[in-house]
Amino acid sequence: MKIELPTAAEPVRIVQGESLAVLVDLPSEAFDLVLADPPYSSGGFTRGDKISGVRKKYQQTGTRREYPAFAGDTRDQRAYGYWSALWLAQCLRAARPGTICGVFADWRQLPVTVDAIQAGGWVYRGIVPWHKPGARPTQGRFTSSCEYLVWGTKGPRPLEGAPLPGFYSVGVKQADKHHLTGKPTELLRELVKIAPASGLVLDPFAGSFTSAVAAALEGRRCLAIECEAPYVAIGRQRVADALGLAEVPGYLAGDA
Ligand SMILES: C[S@@+](CC[C@H](N)C(=O)[O-])C[C@H]1O[C@@H](n2cnc3c(N)ncnc32)[C@H](O)[C@@H]1O
Repeated sequence: MKIELPTAAEPVRIVQGESLAVLVDLPSEAFDLVLADPPYSSGGFTRGDKISGVRKKYQQTGTRREYPAFAGDTRDQRAYGYWSALWLAQCLRAARPGTICGVFADWRQLPVTVDAIQAGGWVYRGIVPWHKPGARPTQGRFTSSCEYLVWGTKGPRPLEGAPLPGFYSVGVKQADKHHLTGKPTELLRELVKIAPASGLVLDPFAGSFTSAVAAALEGRRCLAIECEAPYVAIGRQRVADALGLAEVPGYLAGDA
């Protein structure tokens, strides 16, 4: 599939398709930042837990809004690691030298994600906690109030520019949640700013397209891929609202 990159006039390109199939068609050394929030394949201790539906795994008891289900969340850890190395290698090829790649992970998938970013060819640089104030406390146990951004660079990255934070603390607001496992817009607005002004962000697992919304709001460009049609529809509306347009130009239906 021929994929035109976002331009200043059309800063967001939404691609509906299977991520690996789309990534291999992207040009090399084109992107200034990769932000990936893959389906964690987490949410349980047993194989049975892992393959149960995403609504059962991730919808908190008492949540009133019903979210569409999504794909790709049933891999066991080894499959998750090997698969992650494949798409991370394609992201590496598509990134400019020195680019930062950040991959979200929960505590279960943290070790395998650290392996996968290295297997994908990135220089592994560290783990940035995302603290969620207001996370539900657990009696007699540590409260699970953090997720993590595992990060690496495409080769060396010059020591220049403003320092980036060592952690983020951003709560999840119900009104800002458009996906079962959606990330806060405020968090993504901070992260897309790692790309230079009008720089190009790649999100291979866009969900409700929070990264693309954040890029639109922060003057960055973004190419975002998602395979689930209901989430693409949600994303198209969110991005159109962020850009102040009736419709997002440059939407591409892939081969999902
Ligand atoms: C964790 S969610 C991303 C949430 C997003 N950060 C947000 O704020 O809404 C991961 C998304 O990846 C999508 N996905 C899973 N496997 C995929 C694949 N192979 N190709 C494209 N999208 C995929 C799922 O449908 C899901 O919506």
